[in-house]
Amino acid sequence: MLIDTFGRVATDLRVSLTDRCNLRCTYCMPEEGLQWLAKPGLLTDDEIVRLIRTAVTGLGIEEVRFTGGEPLLRPGLVGIVERCAALEPRPRMSLTTNGIGLQRTAQALRDAGLDRVNVSLDTLRPDVFKALTRRDRHRDVLKGLEGARAAGLTPVKVNAVLMPGLNDDEAPDLLAWAVENGYEFRFIEQMPLDAQHGWKRDGMITAGDVLESLRTRFTLTPEPGKARGSAPAERWIVDGGPARVGVIASVTRPFCRACDRTRLTADGQLRTCLFAREESDLREALRSGAPDEEIARLWQTAMRGKKAGSGLDDPSFLQPERPMSAIGG
Ligand code: GTP
Ligand code: 5AD
Ligand code: SF4
Repeated sequence: MLIDTFGRVATDLRVSLTDRCNLRCTYCMPEEGLQWLAKPGLLTDDEIVRLIRTAVTGLGIEEVRFTGGEPLLRPGLVGIVERCAALEPRPRMSLTTNGIGLQRTAQALRDAGLDRVNVSLDTLRPDVFKALTRRDRHRDVLKGLEGARAAGLTPVKVNAVLMPGLNDDEAPDLLAWAVENGYEFRFIEQMPLDAQHGWKRDGMITAGDVLESLRTRFTLTPEPGKARGSAPAERWIVDGGPARVGVIASVTRPFCRACDRTRLTADGQLRTCLFAREESDLREALRSGAPDEEIARLWQTAMRGKKAGSGLDDPSFLQPERPMSAIGG
């Protein structure tokens, strides 16, 4: 079991498969991209599967989410999913992607054992997409979403970050579109995890702003009977149902107290939190021949150092050195 000193038990492992990305979202990285991790430093497919096996068979991890950067850029993705699906107990598996190329790989991922996907899409307008992501790939994302739905990677969730002056007027249109197409939409508050360190609390669109904007067109009622638990999204019933909408208010209503996560970066560093300032080097342990029991012990020790929360509200808050694209969202 992975338990921290606040009694939280981690059952959800997020694995970043690469720090690279084929978009350049303004809230994430600069136009020119970043200094990518060097290939020899990346975990191999075998190393990734071994760490996931240790987590699932020895540490109580029940759900594995593959993230990036953009995880579809990892050549071995389908094979990794397939091998993880054969583990006992079999973890639930999901993927967070920008959707580019998903149309082509959705069925293979489903066949390999992936359960569901979350796709990022911030706008319905191709020109705004281009301004936000600095790439002209809007159509590819829409095709990817359709491919995921057709392959049964459901429920397909769609994530959006609203940015002032770009897409902050689009919340009702985005939700109407999602309801029509059978996607579950979630609005995410922008977090200070961008490579450029450009985040400002004042400039951020809050969950409160989003709900106010949605209520100009929809009736929202809190989802009854479902405590938020460890899920980052608070969910609302749209116009009496069955559609739902979520808001992920990591900044204004943090859910750290219920956090059930642990993370692995693409270069084999264990992180206990998105905002952690320390990492534990599991790659070094693996490559120096540590047996599974030793890896499990290192993981448990690291979790005991997990902080109570993100520290976002502390006056001394410091953004982690790695940007979100290198941590895994
Ligand atoms: P499901 O609800 O299980 O589908 O997944 P999810 O919402 O956890 O996954 P996803 O990768 O779609 O993440 C959505 C957003 O939640 C990300 O943009 C992050 O901003 C936020 N998020 C994910 N994990 C954490 C976390 O540990 N802490 C905080 N503060 N935010 C997180
Ligand atoms: N704050 C909030 N969400 C972010 N994402 C990327 N960078 C940030 C940020 N700074 C989102 C992506 C994707 C999810 C994994 O995280 O849009 O939907
Ligand atoms: Fe790529 Fe995701 Fe960052 Fe956008 S938010 S640049 S899709 S890693």
